[in-house]
Amino acid sequence: MQTQNSADHKKSLFERLSIITDMFAYPLKTSHYVELVNPLWTTHKMQAQIVSVWDETKDARTITLKAGANWRMHRAGQHVRVGIPVDGMHYTRTYTISSPPERDDGCFTITVKVIQGGRISRHIVRNLKVGDFIPVGLPQGEFYLPDASPIQPLFITAGSGITPAMSMIRSLIAQERLPDTVHIHYAPHEFDVIFGKELLKMNAEQKYYHLHEVHTQKYGEEQREQCHFSVEQLERFCPDWKERDCYACGPAPLLAALEATWEAAGLSRRLHIERFRAELAVIPTDAVGGKVTFASSGISVNADSGTNLLRIAEDAGLNPPHGCRMGICHTCNTTLKSGCVRDMRSGKILNEVGATVQTCVCAAAGDCELDL
Ligand code: FES
Repeated sequence: MQTQNSADHKKSLFERLSIITDMFAYPLKTSHYVELVNPLWTTHKMQAQIVSVWDETKDARTITLKAGANWRMHRAGQHVRVGIPVDGMHYTRTYTISSPPERDDGCFTITVKVIQGGRISRHIVRNLKVGDFIPVGLPQGEFYLPDASPIQPLFITAGSGITPAMSMIRSLIAQERLPDTVHIHYAPHEFDVIFGKELLKMNAEQKYYHLHEVHTQKYGEEQREQCHFSVEQLERFCPDWKERDCYACGPAPLLAALEATWEAAGLSRRLHIERFRAELAVIPTDAVGGKVTFASSGISVNADSGTNLLRIAEDAGLNPPHGCRMGICHTCNTTLKSGCVRDMRSGKILNEVGATVQTCVCAAAGDCELDL
């Protein structure tokens, strides 16, 4: 408490001093000059420095970041936005924080897996290095364990969907209050399991942690089906699943199967899901794209009916504002000046001039002109 008070005191002293020095720094701010000395001391934007990288698997890497001024610690399960500069363009991506908030070195980790065709995830895993500074946002998200009630969690995760669960489990262990916990995790092979060794260690050492790892590509074509989630498998691994709160994160088909199972049991409220992508509607087979004109930039390109307009704009060399890339934050909103786009989540067509278009979840549905 004393340390916190002294930090607050220093902060307010710095803020008061800045009010005076800002007058001399005008039109910039003191923080702009401070950035030249140490980017972590800036207050006009938040940055973090990479202090270590660790390869979890052949295509997943944990990056440890030391956050700068104004950072506030996350709740286990929350995510953070990071800015990634690549070839003069600035991209934003959102990643779950995989470390527990109980770390006392002011650092946090994100664990990034290269996704197929994902140029930014590839860049993060292959090119970012110790010493680099990257812009970060504050931790966000509603996917976390409740503070009070001693629930008995069931985690169901797949692939990199393990990251929020890992933060939660690490946190509960750090607080020495891990309740009876069942964790079902899916990965193609044993060597693809992110945090594989740590999971096995926890399973061996933690009395209340029960791990069921499923390697879905281990067997031949015929048995492979049986490896995927089913109610029978759930009953086998976790007979009391109906009495537990389930926290799940993974690919859309797994989450859809979980939703159907919990809904059929009348227990939807006990299922908590974290998605990495927006849920998309089925696009009609006869859907067409069209010519997309970015009016303010004076650029026109052809687009298909299934690629979001944010990606189309980026591929055309634009650098439009964006955040979550899954229809939540509205940072990517722009205005429809003419033509027709489709909201890929609902399949609904937007064709009213002046309509707001979320470029990350909308695609061309004919020719269209956007205020970008
Ligand atoms: S980037 Fe967040 S809603 Fe589009």
